[in-house]
Amino acid sequence: MTQDEMKKAVAEAALQYVVPGEIIGVGTGSTANFFIDALASIKGQIKGAVASSEATAERLRGHGIEVMDLNSVNSMSIYVDGADESNNQLHLIKGGGGALTREKIVAAVADKFICIADESKLVGVMGEFPLPVEVIPMAQSYVAREIIKQIGGQPILREGFTTDNGNIILDIKNLQITEPAKTEQILNNIVGVVTNGLFALRPADTLLLGTPNGVRTVNPA
Ligand code: A5P
Repeated sequence: MTQDEMKKAVAEAALQYVVPGEIIGVGTGSTANFFIDALASIKGQIKGAVASSEATAERLRGHGIEVMDLNSVNSMSIYVDGADESNNQLHLIKGGGGALTREKIVAAVADKFICIADESKLVGVMGEFPLPVEVIPMAQSYVAREIIKQIGGQPILREGFTTDNGNIILDIKNLQITEPAKTEQILNNIVGVVTNGLFALRPADTLLLGTPNGVRTVNPA
């Protein structure tokens, strides 16, 4: 099974969590794209979707799925999205595609976060994947200095990239994230940080993991 086949399998498996008649929160990235394509097959059963990025909104609309403004939505049963890394407690690193802030907002509204990923994403200790941090542009240097002082690692500017919110991304390399919730809070408290890519304070509820032997459902350890 190729990595793409595993991503497609988990995306299709996530359809079982879709509640008919509801609004679905939809994530960003290659695995989320497979989910959007699968969602199109049952689009008549849902009320609409909230997108976590402009790219996702465009793909949803391309399939004729109505994209709703989050401010017009009071509740959402599920949010489905990929991840760059997950540990066995379903704490995640997200933001490889740069959509971390909107992803975190939509995930916060949803009752249940279903994470879909191929098996390469499940790790023991997170941090091998550089941790993305969305930053207000004028705060770039200050935030980079504070990151080094407070948690270590090497914050590197993602060159030529602007988020959907008009901000920059610093990717923190060389971290070993042994206390994800604490690291998430420290980064949140640095002035100029919009969001960081750790999803530990609000982890996933279920991880659907694509393996060569099929889809494995992982619940938090
Ligand atoms: C987007 O900003 C990310 O959080 C993605 O959800 C994450 O990078 C996973 O992407 P893939 O499914 O493409 O690996």
